[in-house]
Amino acid sequence: TSNEMWGGRFAARPDAIMEAINASIDVDRRLYAEDIAGSIAHSAMLADRGVISAEDAAEIKTGLETIRGEIEAGTFNFSTSLEDIHMNVEARLAELIGPAAGRLHTARSRNDQVAVDFRLHVKAACFAVVEALDAFTAALLDRAEEHAATVMPGFTHLQVAQPVTFGHHCLAYVEMAARDRSRCLDAISRMDESPLGSAALAGTGFPIDRHATAKALGFREPTRNSLDAVADRDFALEFLSLAAICATHLSRLAEELVIWSTPQFGFIRLSDAFSTGSSIMPQKRNPDAAELVRAKPGRINGALISLLTVMKGLPLTYSKDMQEDKAQVFDAIDSLLLAIRASTGMVKDLTVNEAAMRRAAGHGYSTATDLADWLVREAGLPFREAHHVTGRAVKLAEDRGVALDALSLADLQAINPAITDGVYAVLSVDASVASRTSYGGTAPDNVREQIRLWRERIAQR
Ligand code: ARG
Repeated sequence: TSNEMWGGRFAARPDAIMEAINASIDVDRRLYAEDIAGSIAHSAMLADRGVISAEDAAEIKTGLETIRGEIEAGTFNFSTSLEDIHMNVEARLAELIGPAAGRLHTARSRNDQVAVDFRLHVKAACFAVVEALDAFTAALLDRAEEHAATVMPGFTHLQVAQPVTFGHHCLAYVEMAARDRSRCLDAISRMDESPLGSAALAGTGFPIDRHATAKALGFREPTRNSLDAVADRDFALEFLSLAAICATHLSRLAEELVIWSTPQFGFIRLSDAFSTGSSIMPQKRNPDAAELVRAKPGRINGALISLLTVMKGLPLTYSKDMQEDKAQVFDAIDSLLLAIRASTGMVKDLTVNEAAMRRAAGHGYSTATDLADWLVREAGLPFREAHHVTGRAVKLAEDRGVALDALSLADLQAINPAITDGVYAVLSVDASVASRTSYGGTAPDNVREQIRLWRERIAQR
């Protein structure tokens, strides 16, 4: 029995192991809708240009739509010996409509076909990421508004640094999400070119209209170089890069949610809907969703390194190596969307323990910088000296096991005689955050203004 796909040139069937290593259908069947859309656009264009008849194009379209229905109904019979989604669809089309099916592949190769399918898929994924990020941002803004003045400790080195507001902390993630979103839009604008009609690698002698197929498929324009078009996987690499950065951001929030929800911190309570219990310890509430979001960069970074490694050193143009491009990109798309959606859900649902946050904000001498700043402002000390004086005050308070504002004026004046009663006004956590009015600072009014500006920007998108 000869080969199912290229019977002309090949007398023997492939070895079973060859079939196993060569087939990609289990992965690329995910591209069925893009493949069918690409084929419909291509055949319609061929008919418009008189390369095939209008009747054949109509039959091809009807057949392809039937196939789409079969795949969506789960009745399509995917075959490994037909390698990939492209050959599976084409073979079924031949069964359904007969000889007209053989005209579909005129002026086309699987090389430009897979490139167009994959681009369409990654482009759609980018739009889905933008949408998911928008929902995430909306959730963060709502929580920021609610907690514009909720004081919590800000950390460096995970040590209490200075008081900030929870609203300000939420807005930090709004900024990251906005950069991720804009990276997504940038990537879309670069990938918005149709490779269809580049054929195998050199273009084609048929009088095709690549601008028409590009337009029909929603691309801005056709690619300009046929060799580049079939060899390029930058669009996938760019998606994976932005996905890795975005997942990294989400993992940092996830880690904070894990820490904050411990009984030791008790800053937040994750909802039942985003927590799990333990099969043995009845008291447990585990932040599994946050932990899984924290772990997603493992997969996504892996996908990026994997595809960079596949593409590295590949001579132009298409090599079968490139079939290894899809599995990990698909996994990265799913992982990223889930991570964004889970983060959104957790942020929406979590309960803030304002008292615990405020208490913690007052611990660890978080207003020591405010004391130093006061010495600069009111006593004219150089900042370095003020830093030193404050350090001694902190040491004294620490030795006594009390907060800074529990030291008496006499104690403080013993450290530096320029200190007056007025200093106590800056030692509270509320005074500290209210004083941080520099542009981008944590003062509640700043936070409210930034929320207003974000809402305005979003309304204009
Ligand atoms: N399944 C292949 C892939 O994903 C389609 C392109 C095959 N082209 C070829 N010349 N063998 O890359």
